[in-house]
Amino acid sequence: MSFDNFATKPHERLAETLAEEMDAVNALIRDRMASEHAPRIPEVTAHLIEAGGKRLRPMMTLAAAKMCGYDGPYHVHLAATVEFIHTATLLHDDVVDESSQRRGRPTANLLWDNTSSVLVGDYLFARSFQLMVETGSLRVLDILANASATIAEGEVLQLTAASNLSTTEAIYLQVVRGKTAALFSAAMEVGGVIAGVDEDRVKALYDYGDALGIAFQIVDDLLDYRGTDATGKNVGDDFRERKLTLPVIKAIALADADERAFWERTIAKGKQYDDDLETAIAILERHGTLETTRLEALSWAAQAKDALAPLPDHPIKGMLLDLADYVVARVR
Ligand code: IPE
Ligand code: IPE
Ligand code: MG
Ligand code: MG
Repeated sequence: MSFDNFATKPHERLAETLAEEMDAVNALIRDRMASEHAPRIPEVTAHLIEAGGKRLRPMMTLAAAKMCGYDGPYHVHLAATVEFIHTATLLHDDVVDESSQRRGRPTANLLWDNTSSVLVGDYLFARSFQLMVETGSLRVLDILANASATIAEGEVLQLTAASNLSTTEAIYLQVVRGKTAALFSAAMEVGGVIAGVDEDRVKALYDYGDALGIAFQIVDDLLDYRGTDATGKNVGDDFRERKLTLPVIKAIALADADERAFWERTIAKGKQYDDDLETAIAILERHGTLETTRLEALSWAAQAKDALAPLPDHPIKGMLLDLADYVVARVR
């Protein structure tokens, strides 16, 4: 193995291994993101989709199917479905989070408006349903329809938990499982289901996706305090949006009276001033909660790896194991 290969990130190795199928997925995505009747649709979808993104979820579907010996055509449809669901949720998410940056570009809500983002997001959701119907499998329809509902539930639960200082780690976990891990687990699961493997293996794939998704979102929330411009998204969004993410929940549990007053003002009441984000980060650092949060992400990544144990050895399995490490170490 050359040094270059060694230095390549696991998702890039997966992309290389699955290059042919990923090309087919991207072609299908490009075909289905268009619209004959409403030019605004391809404008918005091209802006977001051509910006790339890691394409983690569709790769997971292709990886699961291939690792399970699938040799039909429908894993491509499922991978495109999963990326469409993801892209639809991003369009909606940037509206509700009032974000201005995504994938290193201005968000669609900033370039066009909230209405366009919501409606084009709906369009992509609908297109994802059309794609999954083409597989003819009621079981994958069931899995992806459930995942879509669970994602929306997670986002709404997060909305009602925002600014509530008594939000627990258990509620945070429920939010993260819903808004993020549900699509990771479904992406893996449908790959196994379309390949027709036994239930133990389907469950292993699901469990891997679930734990990986949780690790992924915990790290995403860390990057919201620790990140740089390299994330291609805003830093400090969660604080501004008064979201109770893991580092903050842990710091609130350890707060002295002054810190408690700080969280009351900035998160519960939403009165924020210019250097409050810096103060918040200093408090998180004082209690070491960015580090304890990172350790928790590491432990979910380890769970993800353990979940793959029932699956036979396969080159792709090795890449999925590495992907779990990468997700915790990632900077974007
Ligand atoms: C962003 O997901 C949304 C979260 C669940 C945090 P990704 O970081 O996978 O987004 P892209 O597709 O690579 O831009
Ligand atoms: C993303 O949640 C989850 C979904 C898109 C459903 P976040 O709001 O935490 O993700 P980013 O940081 O904007 O990507
Ligand atoms: Mg967001
Ligand atoms: Mg959000």
